[in-house]
Amino acid sequence: MNGAVNTLELTGVTVARGAGPVIRDVSLTVPAGTVTALVGPNGAGKTSLLEALSGVIPVTSGSVTVGGTPITKLSRVARARLGLVHIEQGRAIFPGLTVVENLRLTAREPADIEGALEMFPELDKRRDSPAELLSGGEQQMVVLARAFVSRPAFLLIDEMSLGLAPVVFMRLLPMVRRFAEQGVGILLVEQFTHLALGLAREALVVSSGRVTYQGQAKELLNAPELLHAAYLGGADAPRQ
Ligand SMILES: Nc1ncnc2c1ncn2[C@@H]1O[C@H](COP(=O)(O)OP(=O)(O)OP(=O)(O)O)[C@@H](O)[C@H]1O
Ligand SMILES: [Mg+2]
Repeated sequence: MNGAVNTLELTGVTVARGAGPVIRDVSLTVPAGTVTALVGPNGAGKTSLLEALSGVIPVTSGSVTVGGTPITKLSRVARARLGLVHIEQGRAIFPGLTVVENLRLTAREPADIEGALEMFPELDKRRDSPAELLSGGEQQMVVLARAFVSRPAFLLIDEMSLGLAPVVFMRLLPMVRRFAEQGVGILLVEQFTHLALGLAREALVVSSGRVTYQGQAKELLNAPELLHAAYLGGADAPRQ
């Protein structure tokens, strides 16, 4: 149903960038309390789509609603206030501040900080260390914890694995699932396709700016030929 309360909904969204559209007529729904993996080839438009949702770049046409509220004309800050939080590529933390100080900057309620540190025992041990002294994996945990204490309704995550060893990245994935279990709708862009699909319930494939697969992540994991066809543009994908 249109404007469902607990969804992030895109209808006919087009995003132009430089020479032309990089997202073309995309309609999809991101449910709350679920991880949705968004995968696709390099240059497909995944980052551009997340940036248009959070307000880094404008949506050219179409509509986006969060819990039924249209957002495309709202500022980035106003969208964040509605609970749309974007973890961009790269680890945006304050290196000179301690772990706890980093969390204080985004926490809606100070009491949430202890809850977040319970979810990340490694961070709890380093709570008073400057973030710059942490490992890459621990810094990415700070990024996740900062997002979590901001109490997002929807969390857009772009290539959390960047620069991390797969084994380190795999330790972060259960945290993402726990966020979803607490009601957050997660849109997870990830180059480690199989890890993302293994975690997610729903999956989207984007190729050349168009959605070429929408369905269950499990179905894609079990059908490499379907994934391959969707990456190539969906022309050869079997009809439902
Ligand atoms: N700042 C920019 N200015 C102009 N065009 C851009 C810009 N950033 C990306 N593009 C173009 O937009 C298209 C989509 O790029 P985007 O970065 O969104 O893809 P992606 O799916 O995130 O790719 P990757 O998997 O490599 O991260 C590409 O054609 C890219 O060249
Ligand atoms: Mg990208």
